[in-house]
Amino acid sequence: MSSSPFSQISSAKAALESGHLAVIPTETVYGLAASIDSESALRNIFSLKARPFFDPLIVHIGRFDQLNEVVGEWGASHQVLAQRFWPGPLTIVVKRNLSLNSLITSGLDSVGVRMPAHPFTRRLLRELRHPVAAPSANRFGKTSPTQTSHVRTEFPDQALTILEGGPSQIGIESTVVRLLETATQITIDILRPGMISPSEIRDELKAHTSKALTISETPHEASPGHLKNHYQPDIPLVVSARPLSPLMTADIEEKFSLPKHSRYSELILHPDPKIAARELYQQMRQTAKGGAAWILVRRTSDRTGELWHSIWNRLEKAASYHIE
Ligand code: TXA
Ligand code: MG
Repeated sequence: MSSSPFSQISSAKAALESGHLAVIPTETVYGLAASIDSESALRNIFSLKARPFFDPLIVHIGRFDQLNEVVGEWGASHQVLAQRFWPGPLTIVVKRNLSLNSLITSGLDSVGVRMPAHPFTRRLLRELRHPVAAPSANRFGKTSPTQTSHVRTEFPDQALTILEGGPSQIGIESTVVRLLETATQITIDILRPGMISPSEIRDELKAHTSKALTISETPHEASPGHLKNHYQPDIPLVVSARPLSPLMTADIEEKFSLPKHSRYSELILHPDPKIAARELYQQMRQTAKGGAAWILVRRTSDRTGELWHSIWNRLEKAASYHIE
């Protein structure tokens, strides 16, 4: 029998404050959280996920005053974005507070911070003595969890403290942004695209500054943790811009050493990108479970624009093979 949200929030609080991990719901995906002041809990995140230490963690806060413990600089433009988009799926990368454990930042001089919107996690974070560092609650390189059942599947042998928060409403990870600001201009550098779009960020800044604004998207290789393969389901996923011919399926079977005429399953994306994002990881898991040998996603030319760009970003990293 599951306990009430209130008692689950206090269990999560007790776990975190005694140096243990807790699984927390957020509007994007579920997170595996450790208090930022617990070195052993932070280490546990990396070992449980089999995550390399070069991939920095995002710090999650519940109140603005908790920023002091996390950041080393906080400019007017950061405040503009935080006021507009927090709580919500936007991670802001700024200079780190030097007291922060460098496990969180992978030795970088910057830190990513966000205030998640899920009401249970907000309440938990507001009650905690310290913010938490939380990556997505999945094994490294695998599909992020958007439901607690996914988390249990990822870590079947672990007795984790889990705060049940229902399915994640956004469904893909937060937008990660860094501002490169001079006296006359601001570059909005998107380190990971998400459901808060670059133009929304630009428009908000435009309303508060006369500086010139430009948008850039840092190539993934330049951002830590952005490996080519990521978000991968348990069977090969193929993204194809073209309808499949028998020749192409034969080629795919050969590429993945599958028997001839193996069954594949097509993952059909919802035409509304917000719903497509919300359903994406659940669909990837579901499709991988159905007994098919591989998954097909058709990349059609009508699915363009900033939100679709973020969805294709995840699908392309989850894909083992692309057909242009
Ligand atoms: O929506 C989310 O952001 C979810 C939920 C749980 O909040 N968290 C999440 O964490 O996606 P994770 O660990 O799976 O992804 C964190 C990524 C890193 O891989 C890296 O690309 C970027 O955030 N990141 C974090 N700190 C950074 C920094 N200081 N500089 C550049 N990129 C950073
Ligand atoms: Mg992740």
